[in-house]
Amino acid sequence: MKALEGIKVLDFTHVQSGPTCTQLLAWFGADVIKVERPGVGDATRKQLLDVPGADSLYFTMLNHNKRSIELNSKNETGKEILTRLIEECDVLVENFAPGALDRMGFPWERIQEINPRIIMASIKGFGPGKYEDCKVYENVAQCAGGSASTTGFRDGPPLVTGAQIGDSGTGLNLCLGIVTALFQREKSGRGQKVSCAMQDGVLNLARVKLRDQQRLDVGPLKEYSQFGEDVPFGEATPRAGNDSGGGQPGRILKCKGWEQDPNAYTYFIIQAAVWEKVCDVIDKPEWKTQEGYAKAPERLDKLNEIFETIEQWTRTKTKFEVMDICNPHDIPVGPILSMKEISEDDGLFATGTMVKVDHPERGEYLSVGCPIKLSDSEVKVERSPLLGEHTEEILVKVLGYSGDDLDRVIGSGAVGEVARDAAE
Ligand SMILES: CC(C)(COP(=O)(O)OP(=O)(O)OC[C@H]1O[C@@H](n2cnc3c(N)ncnc32)[C@H](O)[C@@H]1OP(=O)(O)O)[C@@H](O)C(=O)NCCC(=O)NCCS
Repeated sequence: MKALEGIKVLDFTHVQSGPTCTQLLAWFGADVIKVERPGVGDATRKQLLDVPGADSLYFTMLNHNKRSIELNSKNETGKEILTRLIEECDVLVENFAPGALDRMGFPWERIQEINPRIIMASIKGFGPGKYEDCKVYENVAQCAGGSASTTGFRDGPPLVTGAQIGDSGTGLNLCLGIVTALFQREKSGRGQKVSCAMQDGVLNLARVKLRDQQRLDVGPLKEYSQFGEDVPFGEATPRAGNDSGGGQPGRILKCKGWEQDPNAYTYFIIQAAVWEKVCDVIDKPEWKTQEGYAKAPERLDKLNEIFETIEQWTRTKTKFEVMDICNPHDIPVGPILSMKEISEDDGLFATGTMVKVDHPERGEYLSVGCPIKLSDSEVKVERSPLLGEHTEEILVKVLGYSGDDLDRVIGSGAVGEVARDAAE
C-alpha cells in the first residue's frame, strides 16, 4: 500500500511549480489526473525539444506517474465534466495566472459548493497585495524573494541560482500544505484552500539573509569576507560570494586540474571543532596555538589569508582526493559535482534518486526520482502520460460515463480526439 492510496487529485497544473507538487503526490500513491487543453496540453510538452515529435524532457521529468485527460474547461460540456471531476476528487491543484479559475467560472466558493470536502491548492507568484495580479516565473520569484540580491559576488550584479527554488521549492511547500490539509480533514470532515506564493517560498529559503539584515543594525557581519578586507557594509545584506557563515566559515577552492576543468573545485569548511585537524592536513601546525588563529572568532578577519593557504594545498589534490583525505578527520568538504558526474553516479541510482525511465516516443531518459524516502511507501517512477492518453478511461472509470452519454461527451469537442477502440 502507498501512503496516499485512495486520494484522487485533479491536477490543473502546468509548467514547473504545480507539476512538481502533483508529481510528489503521485509518487506517494495518489491518483493524479492531469487536465490539459485539447490538442495543446501543458505548454512544456513542446518546449526545449530535443527529440522531434516527442514530449520534451521538461515535461516528462515533471509529470511522472500521472494520467492525462484532455478537457476544454471553457466549453459547456467541458464545464460539466470539470464539475464531475471536482465532485470525485479529494484535491484540486492549480497554478494558473491570477483570476484564471474565476474566469473559467470556478472560483473557490463554487468549488467548495460542489464538493465541501475538497482541498483546493494554488500557487501564485505573489500573495495578496500590490503585486497579486502579476504573472510570475522562477527568476522573478528569486528576485522578489530576496535571493538574487544576496547571491553573487560583491563586485558583480545580483545573480539567480540554477536550483529552481521559486518553482520546485514552492511546489514542495504546496505539497506539504495539501497533505496537512488532508490530515486536518480526517478530523474536521471539511476541505480548505491552501495557498502558496512563490515570493514567500523564496524568502523562506533566504531566511538567513533576513537574519543578517537585522544584525547589520548592530555592527558588521564578521563572517563575510568583506569584513576582513575592510570594505564597509551598506544598508542591505550584501552578496557574499561563496562565504558560508558564522563560526564555520567556508569557501570554494581550486583543486588539481582547475585550469582545464570548470568544476575542479571543492567546498571547504573550517568548522571550529576540527580546526586543529585542518591545520595538520594543510601542514600549518603552528596555527593550532598561534594567537589570532587558534580561536574561531579571531580568525574572522583573516579568512582570505587562511583560505588562500588551504587552497595552496587543495590545488595539489583532485576534488575527490580532498574528500578522501578530509573525511576521515571529519573535516566537512564537498566536491563541486557537474551534472555529468551526477548523471553517472551509481550511488544515486542505487537509492532511486536518479532513475532511468522508458518512454514510447523518446526511448530511455534520465530523471530525478523521489527525493523523499518513506520506508513503508515505495516509489516506482513511471513515465509521464501522452496528451489525452487516459481521456476515455477517466470518463468511463472515474466519472461513470457510458453509452449515449459517453458518445455525447466525446462528440461535444470538449475532450479532444478520443481513440475509441483503444480505450473500451
Ligand atoms: C506560469 C504563468 C506565467 C503562465 O502564464 P500563461 O501561459 O499565460 O497561462 P495562464 O495561467 O494565464 O493560462 C492561460 C489561459 O489558458 C486557459 N486554460 C488553461 N487550461 C485550460 C483548459 N484545459 N481549457 C480551457 N482553457 C484553459 C486559462 O484559463 C487561461 O485563460 P484566461 O487567460 O482566459 O483566464 C501563469 O500561469 C502564472 O503566473 N502562474 C502562477 C505562478 C506560477 O506557478 N508560476 C511558475 C510557473 S513554473
